[in-house]
Amino acid sequence: MLEWLASVIGFPSTAKGILTGGGSLATLQALTTALNDRVPGFRAQGLQRDAPPLVVYTSVEAHRSVDKAAAILGIGLDHVRHIRTDAQHRMDVAALTQAIEEDRRAGRQPWCVVATCGTVSTGSVDPLDAIADLCEAEDLWLHVDGAYGALFLLSDHMRALMGGCARADSITLDPHKLLYASLEAGCLLVRDGEKLRDAHAFNSSYLTVADDPLMTDYMDHGPQLSRNFKAFKVWSALQAFGVDAFRTANNRTLDLAQRLGRGVEATPGLTLLAPVTLTAVCIAVDGASAEEHTALLAELAAENTALLGPVLVDGRHGIRACITNHRTSEADIDLIVDRLGQIAAR
Ligand SMILES: Cc1ncc(COP(=O)(O)O)c(C=O)c1O
Repeated sequence: MLEWLASVIGFPSTAKGILTGGGSLATLQALTTALNDRVPGFRAQGLQRDAPPLVVYTSVEAHRSVDKAAAILGIGLDHVRHIRTDAQHRMDVAALTQAIEEDRRAGRQPWCVVATCGTVSTGSVDPLDAIADLCEAEDLWLHVDGAYGALFLLSDHMRALMGGCARADSITLDPHKLLYASLEAGCLLVRDGEKLRDAHAFNSSYLTVADDPLMTDYMDHGPQLSRNFKAFKVWSALQAFGVDAFRTANNRTLDLAQRLGRGVEATPGLTLLAPVTLTAVCIAVDGASAEEHTALLAELAAENTALLGPVLVDGRHGIRACITNHRTSEADIDLIVDRLGQIAAR
């Protein structure tokens, strides 16, 4: 299962990974691996050494799991830089470069960049190639949070946008999103799989498993010893329905998101708050306050039109549709546009 997922991302055969409880845990384990790889003596001394603080860079649009991982691992939120984004909500590489320079000048230690392939609010994709170039030049670990977006790489036409995922040191992706697996099924892949092992493998006298080069023991790839068999449900679904079924479903949700975006743009009283890159569509009803948008979400849910969520884009409150259900139809999308149009007129 992991070898197949690595091939979808474009990782080499040296990659190894682990299925996790979700994207948040995958990112926590990625940053653990990055610490072990980049901080001399990390396993023995942890971060309890007299050393300049490590700094991790991500964008203002990043998922809070990046902050959570930094806090849990003892990096500290003061050492997480939330880099500003451009008009399309992608990490601004010039601002990233400047932040790295400033930290170096101040005696801090730039350590890791977490780029996002599919941000949670607007579905934007950071400029992965430019960020990978910078990480190479600056010798920083590059993690990509592709929990939501990376598996759109199943569709070849997404390679131009997100092919840079293949250049990451590690990547998070979520089979419980675009592969429709039941919860929980996240995944971490590490390009140089030995680094994942180095960070997580421990010997013990009470585990009597004999060393077998043909056996991968996942206790060596993560913090858990006892764990359930997450690969089975993902594998069975792929066997039962075929990869094409998932590719088709994902392409369809991408098309439906574009349809919703066009519908919103064509409807008086509605504003599309961000370009539609993947399947997240952010909409404001002109003149409506944050509270009125919240009330609108409840109204749409109560009347069974749609289950949408709140969003804040560039300081503007709105509502967000994220189309992630293979049963969603054109009629569902048109109904949302019609109802929002009526509400805006009201
Ligand atoms: C970009 C991004 N990162 C991380 C996560 C967290 O994933 P999980 O809920 O699987 O922990 C999400 C979930 O929505 C996400 O969209």
